[in-house]
Amino acid sequence: MSGSSANNQRILVGVSGGIAAYKAVVLVRRLIDAGCEVRVVMTEAATRFVTPLTFQAVSGQPVRVTLLDAEAESGMDHIALARWAQRVVIAPATADIMARLAAGMADDLLTTLCLATEAPVQLAPAMNRQMWAHPATQANYARLVERGVTMLGPDAGFQACGETGAGRMMEPEAIAEALLAEDAPGDMAGLDVVVTASGTREPIDPVRFLANRSSGRMGFALAAEASRRGARVTLIAGPSSLATPAGVRRVDVETAAQMQVAVESIESMDLFIGAAAVADYRVARPAEQKLKKSGASLSLDLLPNPDIIAAVAQREPRPFVIGFAAETERLAEHAAAKRQAKGMDLICANEVGAGRGFDTPDNTLLLLWQDGERALPRAAKERLATQILDTYLQIKQDFPHASR
Ligand code: CTP
Repeated sequence: MSGSSANNQRILVGVSGGIAAYKAVVLVRRLIDAGCEVRVVMTEAATRFVTPLTFQAVSGQPVRVTLLDAEAESGMDHIALARWAQRVVIAPATADIMARLAAGMADDLLTTLCLATEAPVQLAPAMNRQMWAHPATQANYARLVERGVTMLGPDAGFQACGETGAGRMMEPEAIAEALLAEDAPGDMAGLDVVVTASGTREPIDPVRFLANRSSGRMGFALAAEASRRGARVTLIAGPSSLATPAGVRRVDVETAAQMQVAVESIESMDLFIGAAAVADYRVARPAEQKLKKSGASLSLDLLPNPDIIAAVAQREPRPFVIGFAAETERLAEHAAAKRQAKGMDLICANEVGAGRGFDTPDNTLLLLWQDGERALPRAAKERLATQILDTYLQIKQDFPHASR
């Protein structure tokens, strides 16, 4: 685990009332093992899932629940506790606590501490997928992020309620790792980075769509790496089962048109990375009802989709633009032409075909820019992400005013 040595941060762990509260025990344990000082504050509802005694035993410190507790307040009062914390992490963060924090309420100890502290606040949301997707929750999420709250997850996957989807709490080990990664290089601190990832889905009818084999791994790895290096990262993702990387703001979309709207809505952008496999075409008139089979042949009328990355390269002020090219032949030549045509600063080209490039954990890449090229031998996509961002920083350093 990175940064786990010499880690003596003072972390206030807030636990709100969801079934994932039991996982917070593992989180506290990990942080203590790594050398952190941890104090736990629970909401009243959280105590229905796990007892304060459990957290007291794991943290070795008294656990606080209520604000108006005369005895506890005579020890370390809530203002002192808010000052003591170097970070506040709420795991799990339920829809309810997100709403209360977004509204700036101070109706219990935990929300009061969040208002009173100057420490960075991080939330690991955990809730049923419908609750997560609800516009109210999404609005609260956006508001909190805007205010500087960092989000850890949520993940997508099987949920305690028996459903599958986004809203699962990020695993406690991954949360601990994110909190402890203080040895990150930070060479992208202050940059606003936008990454598109995964493939888009273009509906044919309510149950069918046109899609491609992109898994989203490369884009998610880039978002994770940029965030680890200190950038503020927005990940605009087509459907993907991958977990949201720590600290990354994720916007889920389905179609190319939705992806374009999401990209356009972002004002501040220093670096744009188009890693999504955007469908080149959409169905002209998706059927409103499920298409029934008939013996006759069926043809779909397709319209070209807007080119998202080409539009970003026209923006003023213009971000640095990194794109990808998937080619089956004449890699360097086609990629160089694509870079020019779309106005990218750097293109990452890979050969695709059976078992190569798409939906694989590793890849080889050829990076091309105005004044140079770099071949990256086969490596895991996480490693490639590091090398792509190293190349980006190098180009910025060598040609600070580089456009194309
Ligand atoms: N891209 C995009 N919007 C589109 C299509 C592609 O932003 N509508 C971006 C991708 O994210 C990628 C790059 O453009 O960074 C190259 O995509 P690719 O599909 O390889 O290029 P195309 O222009 O579609 O060319 P072709 O399919 O003919 O090779």
